[in-house]
Amino acid sequence: METVLSGIRPTGNLHLGNYFGAVKNFLRMQQEYNCYFFIADYHSLTTHPTPADLHGGVKQIFAEYLACGLDPEKATIYIQSDLPEVAELYLLLSMNAYVGELERTVTFKEKIKKQPDNINAGLLTYPVLQAADIIIHKATKVPVGKDQEQHVEMARKFANRFNHMYKVDYFPEPHPFNFGDNLVKIPGLDGSGKMGKSEGNGIYLYDEPSAIKKKIMRAVTDSGPTEPNQEVAEPIKNLFTIMEQVSAPDTLQYFKEKYASCEIRYGDLKKQLVEDVTKFTTPIRERINEIKSDESYLTKVAQMGAEKARESARKTIKEVREIIGFKPF
Ligand code: TYM
Repeated sequence: METVLSGIRPTGNLHLGNYFGAVKNFLRMQQEYNCYFFIADYHSLTTHPTPADLHGGVKQIFAEYLACGLDPEKATIYIQSDLPEVAELYLLLSMNAYVGELERTVTFKEKIKKQPDNINAGLLTYPVLQAADIIIHKATKVPVGKDQEQHVEMARKFANRFNHMYKVDYFPEPHPFNFGDNLVKIPGLDGSGKMGKSEGNGIYLYDEPSAIKKKIMRAVTDSGPTEPNQEVAEPIKNLFTIMEQVSAPDTLQYFKEKYASCEIRYGDLKKQLVEDVTKFTTPIRERINEIKSDESYLTKVAQMGAEKARESARKTIKEVREIIGFKPF
C-alpha cells in the first residue's frame, strides 16, 4: 500500500485554506492509504515563537486535526520533534542540497521579504527539512495545497539525488496528490493572494460566528459588473472560490447567474457566505473545544503516534546510515 504524508506548521490555527487545500484530502486518504500526518513544529522555529506559543500552537493544531476527523486508529498522527531521526536525515540531506537552488525557492524569496530582520539558515534549508519529513517514511503521495507544490518537487529532487549519488534505488519519488484533481489554492479575503496564517486574511475553523461575520462582511469587493457575462473580477472570483467549498452547488450557481446578469448584490452574497461558512465551522469549533479539554486523550494520541512514526523513521535512518557508509566497527 502506498504511503501518504503531510504536515502543517503550528503557527496560528487552521484556516479554510489549510482545510480545503490539505486536511480535507487527509480524511479520504486515511481510509485508503498508509497515512502519516504530523505537526511541523521544527519548521515553525524559523519564525522564533516563544516556548509558550510553540507549545500552545502544537496542542491547538493537534486538537484541530482530531476535530476535523483525523483518526489515530487509521492514520499515524504525530509531532515532528518527537522524531529526532527527522533532524538526522535533514542533516544528511543538507550535504546534498545546493545553496543556489535553495535561494531560488519561491517561499524563501517571499519569506526574506516578509522577515528581513530574521533571515536564518533554517529558512534557507526549509525544503530540505520538508524532504526529510516526506522521505523518512518513504511517502509517495503528499496531499498539499498549490503553494507547497515546489517543496514537494524539491523533495523528489533530493530523493532522486540521494539514490543517484549512492547508486541505490532506495527512496521512492514523492508527488503532490489530490485524487487526480488540480491542487487547490484558497484565496484570502483581501482580494489577492492566498489565505495564509501570516497574511492575516483568513477565516479560521476556530473563529466564533461573530468573527466570521465581521471578516466576510469586510472582504474586498469592487463596484460590480457593468455589462452582462463579463469576466468575474478577481476579488469576487475569490469569494466564489470559497463559496464553491462551503455552499451547495445551486447556491453558487445562483450567485454566478446574478453576476452574469449584472443583478448581483454583494451584501447578499456575503450574507450567504457568512451563513454557509458558519454552518461548516461551528461543529468543528465545538469539537476542538471538547478535545482540547481532554488532556489525557491528547497525550495518549501523541504518544501512540510518536511510537508508530519512530518505528518507521528508525528503520529508514538505520538503512540510510549503512548506505552512506556509517558502519559499526
Ligand atoms: P502550512 O502550515 O503553511 O499549510 C498546511 C497545508 O495547508 C495548505 N494551505 C493551503 N492550501 C490551499 N490554499 C491555501 N490558501 C493554503 N494555505 C495553506 C498547504 O499547502 C499545506 O498543505 N511546509 C508546510 C508544512 C510541511 C509539510 C511537510 C507539508 C512541513 N513538512 C511535509 C507536506 C509534507 C507548510 O508550511 O504548510
